[in-house]
Amino acid sequence: MTTALNQPAPAPAAAAASTDLAPLKLVIVGHVDHGKSTLIGRLLHDTGALPDGKAEAVKAMSDRRGMPMEWAFVLDALQAERDQGITIDTTQIFFKTATRPYVIIDAPGHKEFLKNMVSGAASADAAILVVDAKDGVQEQTRRHGYILHLLGLEQVVVAVNKMDLVDYDQGRFEAVAAEVRAYLISMGIAPVHILPVSARHGDGLAATSDRMPWFKGPPLIAALDDLPAKPLPVDLPLRFPIQDIYKFDDRRILAGRIESGRLTVGDALLFSPTNARARVKSIEAWAIDGPVTSASAGQSIGITLDDQLFVERGHVASHATEPPVETNVFRARIFWLGRAPMEVGRRYKLKLATMEHPVEVQAIERVIEVGDLSERPADRIERNEVGEVILRARATLALDPFTDNPKLGRFVLIDGYDMAGGGLVSMEGFPDQRQRTAPTSQNITAVEHRVTTDARWSANGHKSGILWLTGLSGAGKSTLAVELEQALFRKGWQAYVLDGDNIRFGLSADLGFAPEDRAENIRRVGEVAALFARAGVLVITAFISPYREDRDRARAVAPELFHEVHVKADLAICEGRDPKGLYKKARTGEIAEFTGISAPYEEPDSPDLEVDTGALSLQESVARLLGYVEANFGGNGNGR
Ligand code: ADX
Repeated sequence: MTTALNQPAPAPAAAAASTDLAPLKLVIVGHVDHGKSTLIGRLLHDTGALPDGKAEAVKAMSDRRGMPMEWAFVLDALQAERDQGITIDTTQIFFKTATRPYVIIDAPGHKEFLKNMVSGAASADAAILVVDAKDGVQEQTRRHGYILHLLGLEQVVVAVNKMDLVDYDQGRFEAVAAEVRAYLISMGIAPVHILPVSARHGDGLAATSDRMPWFKGPPLIAALDDLPAKPLPVDLPLRFPIQDIYKFDDRRILAGRIESGRLTVGDALLFSPTNARARVKSIEAWAIDGPVTSASAGQSIGITLDDQLFVERGHVASHATEPPVETNVFRARIFWLGRAPMEVGRRYKLKLATMEHPVEVQAIERVIEVGDLSERPADRIERNEVGEVILRARATLALDPFTDNPKLGRFVLIDGYDMAGGGLVSMEGFPDQRQRTAPTSQNITAVEHRVTTDARWSANGHKSGILWLTGLSGAGKSTLAVELEQALFRKGWQAYVLDGDNIRFGLSADLGFAPEDRAENIRRVGEVAALFARAGVLVITAFISPYREDRDRARAVAPELFHEVHVKADLAICEGRDPKGLYKKARTGEIAEFTGISAPYEEPDSPDLEVDTGALSLQESVARLLGYVEANFGGNGNGR
């Protein structure tokens, strides 16, 4: 058992605390000099968590040095006893309030912290970010803020500390609070509370402070008590990853451990990534006598189904209403342990729950030095570094963002035979690819046309198809599309442009720029473009279409007619052109999820044609397109 030094302390404030509650796991982060240790020392004191005599010892220590009571010494005192081997666990500090127990787990600064957090050895429920009221947001504050984001910590309480040094001034507090809030929000973290405190003098910790009557929010301890506990695995949606399939007499038993949620005989299950469905006929629990009708998170069970489906190890059973994400590309926060660095283009084996699948590193977005949490340009992640990467698999995987369900949101990467890294899944910027396109309606039958596409080609004197222009906003897609359309029209061709902005006034008027909306936008355009092409028209589409998967799906509607054209220009060039002033707005945060700035763009792997508008003039670019069109669509298929 792990017992921290201060754990068995008499705790007056804890008299009413329910001891069967699991402790809320806290991390305390912030710039070194902003008062983390003082805050922890004072919190322990104010909640009665200090062992008898400890406060007096700290007072004596402070007196000897001619200082006022220095609460940070509490940690030194605890550390000193640890060094004498009194504690077993050196990374946990316990305290209790009237509402519940807490444990402060290790914080950045300790080398092992990030590794433990990413690998799952430790996991925090909430964080306190300490910011100095006088200094405000510093570089380290930003780095620690980023770490919270990296670890998927969404419950953040900000303590604006050392209010005594700014004379408990409301204006100063509000200025710092606004600065911290803006920074955290830019990273997708909405702070639950931002509170003024003075850890040294105990203002705003256990009780509201008379020195800050202007502050109407709760004191820190009440704010912590307000944080909802993370749901237990059993309260999350069902995830039953299949580990093995056994055949007993004529029964086929799917065995595994329920990672989250509950499962009951008769439940309709959806298997991912196959999307197969069946009902649970029976539950076979080995350790339990008698019939079992339901099971929940943590239990290893076997089930039989009412239908013989194709199911294998690695597939995940869920309820149909709350399935995991299906995707072949996702973002990951990685802690790298491999001897060889992680590099773009390299392949590793991903192990997530019972699934194993090769993945390729598509991009490394940033790398954090663990020592000082600074960032550096990222083309590789070295051993013991943390980074944010994009991983791509050949097939569709079933997983969950770590913040939704840690059980299916955490994985390891294997390089050869070695565990090379641990990671957390994030779907930020990427859509769930779960197929929503199978027709919902029953009793529908396709009608055959009497006029064939070939006949239309003969009549038009040219072939039809889809010229799918993809590229960043400002790369020149629309400009090229309308130039090409005009040039072809003049030659007597049936050509028509489908343009992103135009379609969003009508067909896609209900869609925005969230990943799922973009995926749906491109799905619709893919279908419409195929209809036009079958009608004999040469369709030129001009959409950013940032995801490979969506473009592949558009191709799959009419593969023989589809030609992918990468209208290529660097982000810097597009941002320089900024024809609609949108990049400027994206940089100031006025537009969220802007492609290239705050949303991903996945370049085509092997486009049918590349037009580099950064290098070519408009005329040259149009000429390239015209040449391509004449070579591929000229003639009518009847040997003309
Ligand atoms: S797509 O991602 O779904 O393919 P689409 O091509 O339809 O995008 O629309 C892109 C156009 O919408 C851009 O050229 C730009 O004018 C405008 N736009 C507005 N907001 C955004 C945004 N957040 N990201 C990208 N483009 C945006």
